[in-house]
Amino acid sequence: MYCVRNVTETVYWVGSSDRRLALFENLFPIPRGVSYNSYLIQDEKTALMDTVDSSVSQQFLENIAHVLEGGSLDYLVVNHMEPDHCALIGRLLELYPQMQVVGNTKTIQMIQQFYDADLEGRTLLVKEGDTLALGEHTLHFVTAPMVHWPEVMMAYEEKEKLLFTADAFGTFGALDGNLFNDEVDFETEWLPDARRYYTNIVGKYGAQVQTVLKKAAGLEISMLCPLHGPVWRSNLEWFINKYDKWSRYEPEEKAVAVMYGSMYGNTENAACVTASELSKAGIRNIKVYDISSTDVSELIAEAFRCSHLVLASPTYNGGLYPKMEALLNDMKALNVQGRTVGLIENGTWAPASGKLMRAALEGMKNMTVLEPVLTVKSSLKAEQAVSSVDTLVKEIAASVLAN
Ligand code: FEO
Repeated sequence: MYCVRNVTETVYWVGSSDRRLALFENLFPIPRGVSYNSYLIQDEKTALMDTVDSSVSQQFLENIAHVLEGGSLDYLVVNHMEPDHCALIGRLLELYPQMQVVGNTKTIQMIQQFYDADLEGRTLLVKEGDTLALGEHTLHFVTAPMVHWPEVMMAYEEKEKLLFTADAFGTFGALDGNLFNDEVDFETEWLPDARRYYTNIVGKYGAQVQTVLKKAAGLEISMLCPLHGPVWRSNLEWFINKYDKWSRYEPEEKAVAVMYGSMYGNTENAACVTASELSKAGIRNIKVYDISSTDVSELIAEAFRCSHLVLASPTYNGGLYPKMEALLNDMKALNVQGRTVGLIENGTWAPASGKLMRAALEGMKNMTVLEPVLTVKSSLKAEQAVSSVDTLVKEIAASVLAN
């Protein structure tokens, strides 16, 4: 049975959700699932905006057949060639023999790299600023390289002012029947996954996102139609502002995220004492994370949200605790920058993790490491708590409460 929603009178959402997949990109936990959005425009010519992941192919093909009512599919616009959106290109080429694949040079090259589809006479090349008239609807193509791959385009439909945004403005999370942002409580139920999606998938490419946001600012937009998650038809500014902040690497909140690795609970204790002292110092926006039991994608999202981080790590084989090393590597890879960081190191005979965390942070842009590093030798002692912890907490609190 088809499962379709109208986006407008003549534009249909024909995507589907996957609640079985455990790891997106075989990497990111998605306990709430994920949706793969695709949109079909009905006009004198019909155009499908991207396909979906192979896992939802049956539902997707039924949806398209329902909307077309036996009519032809004229164009498949491929805005993004990551296989979660393009897996059905070959099948559609077979099912709809007059369909043309619309993409840029890189798109077509990637289709040939991924698939053995015969594209002879089946492609329509477009570039920045090109338009495609469908009848009353006209698509206007806007390139968006590296948001999230180099071939990415967005398409702006001029009549109804819809912006098909590819991965941008997407989020993890299956759709529970509701399609539009104003049908759900986005800030409460979706924002953490939207942040985790953005920061881990596109976080590295802030400069490129800024370029696209500037292009979008010149368009009158009624809806943002992403490839994952709800369609935005109200309060667009709120979500665009989130993207602006994330892509500038500006913290969303004055907040402290304490992230600790701990083998036997002693570094954990130092982290918890620090968090407690921060609260006594008047800081309210604090979260504490065990980095061994928190997926690194959650930690990255928190590093984007919070202005301040406290990183606490044992020394391990003379180096960093592996989970902390992985977190710092991910922070660098995803371009985390401009944060203020307090450090807690632990070591029973030769503490080195403070020096190593500092070196990793110095490899990122505009990171401020607060002094002094709190050194724990095996376990925190009461006399240390009223000296070293107090000093670190004063530094963090002063920095958080400044301005
Ligand atoms: Fe949802 Fe970059 O693919």
